[in-house]
Amino acid sequence: MDVVDVIRTKRDTGVLSDTQIDWVIDAYTRGVVAEEQMAALLMAVFFRGMSSAELAQWTAAMIASGERMDFSSLERPTTDKHSTGGVGDKITLPLTPLVAACGGAVPQLSGRGLGHTGGTLDKLESIPGWRATLSQAEMLTQLRDVGGVICAAGAGLAPADRKLYALRDVTATVESVPLIASSIMSKKIAEGTSALVLDVKVGTGAFMKDVEQARELAVTMVELGAAHGVKTSALLTDMNTPLGRTAGNALEVTESLEVLAGGGPSDVKELTITLAREMLRVCGADSGKDPEDALRDGSAMDVWRAMIRAQGGDPDALLPRARHTHVVNAPDSGRLVRLDALAVGVAAWRLGAGRARKEDPVAFGAGVELHAKPGDVVQAGQPLLTLHTDDEERFSRAIEALDGGYDIAAAANGFTPSPLVIDTVGA
Ligand code: URA
Repeated sequence: MDVVDVIRTKRDTGVLSDTQIDWVIDAYTRGVVAEEQMAALLMAVFFRGMSSAELAQWTAAMIASGERMDFSSLERPTTDKHSTGGVGDKITLPLTPLVAACGGAVPQLSGRGLGHTGGTLDKLESIPGWRATLSQAEMLTQLRDVGGVICAAGAGLAPADRKLYALRDVTATVESVPLIASSIMSKKIAEGTSALVLDVKVGTGAFMKDVEQARELAVTMVELGAAHGVKTSALLTDMNTPLGRTAGNALEVTESLEVLAGGGPSDVKELTITLAREMLRVCGADSGKDPEDALRDGSAMDVWRAMIRAQGGDPDALLPRARHTHVVNAPDSGRLVRLDALAVGVAAWRLGAGRARKEDPVAFGAGVELHAKPGDVVQAGQPLLTLHTDDEERFSRAIEALDGGYDIAAAANGFTPSPLVIDTVGA
């Protein structure tokens, strides 16, 4: 097989054969195809796209580059969620124990944050003692005993994606629907879940800035799931405003605990319950318990505590708090009509909640607390946001990120809230 032929075929709008796709993914993973050759092929895919058949084969080859997990010995059906990433998106934290409390088994392999969106593992690592790395046997035991597990994906899962993602990151080829869809779905299919619900975020704080782009990604991923025997559906959800009232690791754990205790911000609660019902519906779990009841009666909180303990964490430990805070007050009286997710995400990141390079540490207590959400009436001088950081020098750049990030209009103008769930695709 000649890699130059493969690149030329795609460059000239041709269709790659199954054999070409299997070979190029395998040879690249083994280091036989050079980085510059794969970079050229990715750019050709970026511009020429892939047919459904090419994409299904490309994804299958990525799955075959590593191990595939198997949870078929569990009595409960497995069901998982994947979010394409947003600001304040802590939903995995309350959702995993909630679905487990209602009869699903949730094998949630998660990642660390890069850039302005936070990573689930970073949030959980703010809990003293909690450990992200589990063996496959430990995962299976925890799923059987507790019902839910959130942990890091092992190096053996879709190793082709690890290399391809790093290369896409430095060759401006991340924002391609087939490349994003194959990257996400290869990991989720290799993870061995029987059902999957995708939360495709749309808006300023998301990858996908408009609904049509997001719908195309959702449809592509739902089709890939179906082609590999994973019952998959997708929700398109709003990410123009941060979710909930916090962005930052320990701050988001605290807010998730409020949801598990039956309270919490209405948007986080609504999305958690909506996704939980969808995950249970898609996997066919029928314990008869509704997620809203499992939040009310404390059973989801019981699963959370068992999950944290099973991974070495202390569910009663005090969470880290940042050393310094700075309050941003409302400059005018009126109705807050816009609070931009990207501005808040970048501010939280600059305060130390996120990382610029994957080897950087995160500051667990850093982040942004929101005291008002779009639709709320505020008075001039009233606290709008509290910024948290361990390093006071970070305040000025965070404040810069928030400049132009919110609008206050006359209260009498009224306000029509955007729907949180925009649409549903598949299953
Ligand atoms: N998340 C992934 O895992 N892969 C992508 O390509 C984009 C987001």
